[in-house]
Amino acid sequence: MPIGGAEDKIREPRVLKRFVGLCGQNPRIVVIPTASSRKDIGSEYTKLFSELGAANVDVLNLIEREQCFDERVIDLLNAADGVFMTGGKQMRLSTTLGGTPVAKVLRRLNADGKPVLVPCGQNNGFKLRAEDLEAAITPRTKWFMLNNPCNPTGAAYSADELRAICDVLLRHPDVWIFTDDIYEKLAYDGFKPATIVQVEPKLRDRTLTMNGCSKAYAMTGWRIGFAGGPLPLIKALDKLQSQSTSNTSSISQAAAVAALTGPQEFIDEMVVAFQRRRNVVVDMLNQCPGIICAKPEGAFYVFPSIHGCIGKTSKAGAKIDSDADFVTALLDEEGVAAVHGSAFLYPGHFRISYALDDATLEDACKRIRRFCQGLS
Ligand SMILES: Cc1ncc(COP(=O)(O)O)c(C=O)c1O
Repeated sequence: MPIGGAEDKIREPRVLKRFVGLCGQNPRIVVIPTASSRKDIGSEYTKLFSELGAANVDVLNLIEREQCFDERVIDLLNAADGVFMTGGKQMRLSTTLGGTPVAKVLRRLNADGKPVLVPCGQNNGFKLRAEDLEAAITPRTKWFMLNNPCNPTGAAYSADELRAICDVLLRHPDVWIFTDDIYEKLAYDGFKPATIVQVEPKLRDRTLTMNGCSKAYAMTGWRIGFAGGPLPLIKALDKLQSQSTSNTSSISQAAAVAALTGPQEFIDEMVVAFQRRRNVVVDMLNQCPGIICAKPEGAFYVFPSIHGCIGKTSKAGAKIDSDADFVTALLDEEGVAAVHGSAFLYPGHFRISYALDDATLEDACKRIRRFCQGLS
């Protein structure tokens, strides 16, 4: 990671320390900067590693977020015999790939690897059950993927909840683990999402822990992410990156350093605002006839069920036979745009993002209520 000025060099260890906490205790850290700067700043990093008491490696690599998923992981998946996506049907791959629809991703995966979607039922807070994971693993399984907190459901896993999942993974030493923790700072009512490696350090040698600046720092456009994992994997990822886009822009990297090392208090303020908005949205949606909305632990989405609306007809005469019909009519008749659950391979639901100002959210919820009240 190229470091611009002297201040950045001084601040750098704090970036590493923060991420190290997520990748496990006492990690050995390797930072893979962009090829051109690697030689110049190599000694700086050596110094940083010793300051951090680094011993057992793993990684810190600043990369372009989409590539993290797209090129490295998808290429690895293509070589795999089986893939798990927890959050199963509701894992939001589309945004991860910068708007690439899930179906396209799955088609790519299907080139060789075969995604296996493990249901994460609404009756279990949209969370994966250890026994369902156990039942889904076969000798052909290569990767297990977890998004925590989850897009689109907002479901999040605490350390206690991850324990049973880690126990399953410990029993399957050939399965690698990919965790997308990009929403980890966005959790409510004091909920603390955990990472797989925090819960079970023995899994570190086969876990890729991914994070980025897009959510907690609202830096989506800067395209910055980072991943921690076993050195051979990170080296392979680095090789792929260096032969594709080389690296993310140095301007974005400098901005990421500023975000990660600068004042963090605004995140708490943001979490307070998100929690308030989540509560308002959940309350208002539960007043809509035909909608049932659970209160999720994290991220900035709710994923209400609209089963009670299916089979009805809207005020303007649209037949609501599916979640797609529901969101289309909602857009046509009330001007509210939401994403239908089928886009996440989870029909009978729709997703609302509450990363909006309070007034707009309340207005949107009132329109949804009016729309549902008009169904007959
Ligand atoms: C689970 C998850 N991972 C990753 C991302 C993508 O982040 P980025 O904007 O950095 O590509 C998103 C964005 O919606 C997401 O929901």
